[in-house]
Amino acid sequence: MGLNKLKLAVFISGRGSNMLALMEACKRPDFPAEIVLVLSNRPDAKGLVSAKEAGIATEIVDHKGFSSRETFEAEVQKRLQAYTIDYIVLAGFMRVLTAGFVDQWLGRMVNIHPSLLPDYKGTDTHARVLADGKRETGCTVHYVVPDIDSGEIIVQKRVPVLEGDTPDSLAARVLEQEHVAYPEAIERLAATHKNA
Ligand code: GRF
Repeated sequence: MGLNKLKLAVFISGRGSNMLALMEACKRPDFPAEIVLVLSNRPDAKGLVSAKEAGIATEIVDHKGFSSRETFEAEVQKRLQAYTIDYIVLAGFMRVLTAGFVDQWLGRMVNIHPSLLPDYKGTDTHARVLADGKRETGCTVHYVVPDIDSGEIIVQKRVPVLEGDTPDSLAARVLEQEHVAYPEAIERLAATHKNA
């Protein structure tokens, strides 16, 4: 089929279960993307271990070593230059990126958020959903724009809120759907991607 696979840089800060779901998807011969780099702002991110074990290149840019977001991001950009990257995939990356960085990757950077955007932007989504007595929540893969959690939606998955749910139980159920949503979103990106 001569697939020209999309080259992804996955940004993580911790556990990396979405990254793992993408790694699994990338094993499928017909999956239209490959992970060329996993970048973490935390040296102890668990996901780095799995990436290394899979033979994927990793980069660590520890934000604590920088005095501003801009200098941190300049180092990230510098590291990225060593790779050919079509899309940055934020997967539990816990740093807010400045408009300066986002603009350089506009249309080529996506994020996953654990709510049905535009509802429940920001943090603690599951606790807020429960406090509001919502019957349904979910997850959203969206393009990243300078305004947080506001870019065009690529894929959404709905998840029912069940009697007795806690933020943790709800998070776990939503996470299962995140792992389905992200590979699906990457397939959609590939379908619309124009090779420059
Ligand atoms: C996910 O719930 C994601 O939606 C949120 O952070 C979490 C990351 O989990 N942005 P993981 O590191 O992919 O396991």
